[in-house]
Amino acid sequence: MARFVTPLTGWIYQGVAGFEGHLEAEIGEWNVSWGNLYHGKALQEPVFWHQNIWLAPFQVEFDSISEAVKTLRGIQRNWSSVLYTQFRRGALIQSQLPPLSSKPRRFPWILPDVPIGAWTLVNSHTMIASAQCTSPFPGGIIVFEEDLAGPPSRAYLKLWEALVRCRTHPQPGERCLDAGASPGGWTWALARLGPEVIAVDRALLEERILTMPRVSFIKHDAFTLKPETIGPLDWLCCDVICYPSKLYEWISRWLDAGICRNFICTLKMQGTPDMETVRRFAAIPNSRIVHLYHNKHELTWMKTA
Ligand SMILES: C[S@@+](CC[C@H](N)C(=O)[O-])C[C@H]1O[C@@H](n2cnc3c(N)ncnc32)[C@H](O)[C@@H]1O
Repeated sequence: MARFVTPLTGWIYQGVAGFEGHLEAEIGEWNVSWGNLYHGKALQEPVFWHQNIWLAPFQVEFDSISEAVKTLRGIQRNWSSVLYTQFRRGALIQSQLPPLSSKPRRFPWILPDVPIGAWTLVNSHTMIASAQCTSPFPGGIIVFEEDLAGPPSRAYLKLWEALVRCRTHPQPGERCLDAGASPGGWTWALARLGPEVIAVDRALLEERILTMPRVSFIKHDAFTLKPETIGPLDWLCCDVICYPSKLYEWISRWLDAGICRNFICTLKMQGTPDMETVRRFAAIPNSRIVHLYHNKHELTWMKTA
């Protein structure tokens, strides 16, 4: 085992490439940063612009690679490196840890309920690690086997990721609304799971999506469609490009109507994110907001029954 293993107070926040500034604004201050890892306080307020949070960090002073490996292996099986320096040494350590599959996943993929730790090297003899992290994916990364022929856009990847994180997905016999559906990536992904899909957009769906079994299309402004007009839903999915406040207003109507069981909605941002609305979404009971690995300048709000 290593010479010194010292618990660190606070959390380590792993930023999202390109959006580190949003995370910095959320956490306010931090003791030290390594690459896009920020060691700061454990905050009471939720933080959204991160790829992962290391919830129980500790520092390891080690002499040899095998010592570093033994220390991690003595805690749990699964560890994933986040390296910003010491790449060769880091790769050697990772190669001696139990392998984590980096194979692209075929959807629908059931997320195993096992902890995945994270670690980094700050110099050749100092490692920072945490066995408990918020992301269920190694380093916050999930890669899917892509379908290059079926869907008309790659947007379906974020819906797949959201469904994997929900640990449930639409079933045959269920009813889904896909708002902001064109050109049809999400509708394609939903329809393949077997439910009825009502796609809504001001622009047309691609013909081959429109003709998929159980898909219907309404050319309409999604936000002027009333819940009572659509009727009970199992899933409301929304990827409309709009201000988050506009989406909040519409979703509130659905929540008040109480006729939809599950929600997956993209909160699209422009410039400085509207964090006030993000927090209002986050306060909706039994829901959460994450920055998915497949999200760009957007967050995903999810609520499951
Ligand atoms: C990012 S695209 C959706 C991509 C889609 N999820 C896919 O997988 O192919 C956003 C869509 O929102 C639609 N949109 C924007 N405002 C809308 C509104 N008020 N009502 C319905 N659709 C709207 C746009 O026409 C556009 O097709």
